[in-house]
Amino acid sequence: MSKISDVKAIQVFDSRGIPTVACEIKLDNGVFATAMVPSGASTGSKEALELRDNDSNYHGKGVLNAISNINNKLGPLLKGKESENQIEIDKILVDYDGTNDKSSMGANATLAISLAAAHVSAKNKNINLYEHFSRIYSDITGKRNKYSLPMPMFNILNGGEHADNNVDIQEFMIVPSGAKDFVQVMKWSMEIYHNLKKILSSKNYSTAVGDEGGFAPNLKSNEEAIELIIASIEATKLKPGEDVNIALDCAATEFFDGNNYVLDGDNQKYNSEEFTEYLESLITKYPIISIEDAMDENDTDGWKMITKKIGKKCQLVGDDLFVTNKNIFQEGINEKLANSILIKFNQVGTITETIETINCARENNYKCIISHRSGETEDTSISDLAVGLGASQIKTGAPCRSDRIAKYNRLLWIEDKSNDILLDE
Ligand code: PGA
Ligand code: ZN
Repeated sequence: MSKISDVKAIQVFDSRGIPTVACEIKLDNGVFATAMVPSGASTGSKEALELRDNDSNYHGKGVLNAISNINNKLGPLLKGKESENQIEIDKILVDYDGTNDKSSMGANATLAISLAAAHVSAKNKNINLYEHFSRIYSDITGKRNKYSLPMPMFNILNGGEHADNNVDIQEFMIVPSGAKDFVQVMKWSMEIYHNLKKILSSKNYSTAVGDEGGFAPNLKSNEEAIELIIASIEATKLKPGEDVNIALDCAATEFFDGNNYVLDGDNQKYNSEEFTEYLESLITKYPIISIEDAMDENDTDGWKMITKKIGKKCQLVGDDLFVTNKNIFQEGINEKLANSILIKFNQVGTITETIETINCARENNYKCIISHRSGETEDTSISDLAVGLGASQIKTGAPCRSDRIAKYNRLLWIEDKSNDILLDE
């Protein structure tokens, strides 16, 4: 095993042109690797803290304090440590930070180091990052898992906080459930995406894209978004509900006013019960197999109601609800909220804690969806996490824009090089 000889961070930029943290770790044998952290826009209030400088530079969004924490505080603690020992490295980061939400060092600082340690270890052993993630999973849980390629949810129509249009629901996604392999996943999704563009143009709708690469037109209603996607699946000569399904991320916290779910685009407002009925009517009418953040993150009664009502027939995903935090998630499991969890490294701030949350989901029969953030970089660690842990699903935006496509391209390479890694059902 090789020891860490240097940890260095610099400020780089994400897909929205906002500063973020990049970290390089070097070993005593000269091997080095880098990682970069992403950033959310519709963040859950209980996420680990992303440390921003809040000064007069970069509109307050600089991350030079997080970088100084790496270069001057956390990095020196790791010198001489074995990079492969991810649990020990993450424990040093968590202990030094000393808070529940990484608010002392910043989760952007801890995650950059945590990821860079995994990258350099995989490189040093000349193995794929997904193989290394799988070993870390075994170290943490004592269990082994099978590799698999995740089924993606492609966000092809953007609304909410990720776009400048009148659509309230944040993400309208296609799930090519009937594809036989990842090459076909990409072919179908790309063809549907470009057919959607043609359909939008033919209606004189905008084909400009939102933060995650999906189109972001003004529409007559939220439901029209689903109709347009169905039309684009059919224009691709594929069958909605058989070849390709639909998934939504309501990100409902963003349009909950404390009492009601306010859909400005539809000129409607609903209480929790009415909003449950509205979503139930959508899953009855359309092949919607998954809804994320269907309710506000603090509307526990609403979550209980919707899980009871439609949880047997639809995947209900907690993102802002669980924020990848094992303790918050466990409380939600006890209350029977949702049946799946979105997994985002930077909501919690280290690889070890992320994997502990995934393990908790498995022990409680919740599905995991590995996810990007709306602000991304060319870092593709999440693709390897999904394969290495055999997570059945991934969500990383539209089949468009390099910050999104980089993750899908990585999965194409993994499929091509490893004949025994198959697409999950
Ligand atoms: P965010 O959005 O990265 O802006 O939080 C992604 C999501 O809500 O799933
Ligand atoms: Zn979400």
